[in-house]
Parts: sequence; C-alpha cells; structure tokens
Amino acid sequence: MKLLVTGSSGLIGSEVVFYFCNLGWEVHGVDNNMRADFFGPQGDTRWNQERLKAQFSSFQHHELDIRDHKAVLPCLEQLRPDMLVHAAAQPSHVLAASRPYDHFDTNAVGTLNLLEATRLNVPKAVFVCMSTNSRSGRWAGGISEFWRLSGRESTPSAGSYSARLAA
Ligand SMILES: NC(=O)c1ccc[n+]([C@@H]2O[C@H](COP(=O)([O-])OP(=O)(O)OC[C@H]3O[C@@H](n4cnc5c(N)ncnc54)[C@H](O)[C@@H]3O)[C@@H](O)[C@H]2O)c1
Repeated sequence: MKLLVTGSSGLIGSEVVFYFCNLGWEVHGVDNNMRADFFGPQGDTRWNQERLKAQFSSFQHHELDIRDHKAVLPCLEQLRPDMLVHAAAQPSHVLAASRPYDHFDTNAVGTLNLLEATRLNVPKAVFVCMSTNSRSGRWAGGISEFWRLSGRESTPSAGSYSARLAA
C-alpha cells in the first residue's frame, strides 16, 4: 500500500510516517520546511526529515510547496497513493492574525490543491485531513470518526469537504 503524507517533517506528519513505515507501507512525504519560515530557526524541521530518511528505506521525501497547484497535480499524477494524510499546515492562531495571507494560502488553498489533485488522479483514495477542533463550531463535543456528513452541517470548511470526499 502507498501513502502520501503532507507536512511529513512536522510533529503530526512525522509520527504518521513512522507508524505506516512500521506497518510496511511505501510512504512518500511532502514538506518544504515552511515551518522554519513561520517560526524561525527553532522551527526548522530538516532534522526530522533526515531522521526519517535514515530510519526507513520505504520513506521518500518530496520537496514540494502545497500552495503550488502546478507542482501538486503532477506529484499526485505520478505517485497515485492509496491514501493521503494531510498534515501540512500553518498551525498557529497567533501567526494567522499577523500573516493572514500565508495562513490562508497554506491551510485553505493548499488543502484545496490536494483535494483537487486527489479528485483528478486518485478519486477512490482515502483522504485524511488533520485539522483542529476550533473549526468544528457547535460540534465542540467532537465528531465521531464514523459520522457521515449529510451536507447540511454548519462547518463550511475544506476539512468538511475532505471528510465528504473520504466518506
Ligand atoms: N500538534 C498537535 O497537537 C495537533 C493536534 C490536533 C491537530 N493538529 C493539526 O495537525 C496539523 C499539523 O500540525 P503539526 O502540529 O504537525 O504542525 P507542524 O508545524 O509541526 O507541521 C506542519 C508541517 O507542514 C509543513 N508545511 C507548512 N506549509 C507547507 C507548505 N506550503 N508546503 C509543504 N509543507 C508545508 C511544515 O514545514 C511542517 O513540517 C495542523 O492542521 C494542526 O492544526 C495538530
């Protein structure tokens, strides 16, 4: 089985890489170390990228900016994964306020680029979108992993679109 993990050098993404490599999957990671741009030298994730490459021969890193749909489309066309775990993000609420364009381009446009590339190339693939419960509005109690969205919920976000795609 083949997995594509975005944000594969970050906190969540690297754990996903670790888990699925240990299960014997072929794992492809996408990251461009944007975390160093967001958080400065202390946010640099290259060490984690190198750690995963050294640890798993089944892991391959792809230097890709998810904001660039012209790069995302051929990547999906070439890799054709069975599953995607989308963990590339600008995760800070504070930075969202001071760098709104970067925040929106990464979290909204980047997610749209991946969803569209999935729809065009591997529509049957499972798409898992990591996000935050801050997005879930009145569903603050949590959303079951098995809940099938009806299309009437008040969660008009890329995350709920991806949930529908996966359902
Ligand atoms: N950390 C948590 O406890 C937690 C909990 C729940 C949900 N989440 C969600 O999981 C997601 C990931 O969070 P995290 O803590 O792993 O963040 P992180 O900052 O550690 O990792 C994000 C990764 O995405 C990469 N990235 C950013 N922009 C990119 C771009 N344009 N192209 C390619 N790669 C890019 C960064 O370089 C970084 O390695 C977020 O949506 C977050 O809200 C995190």
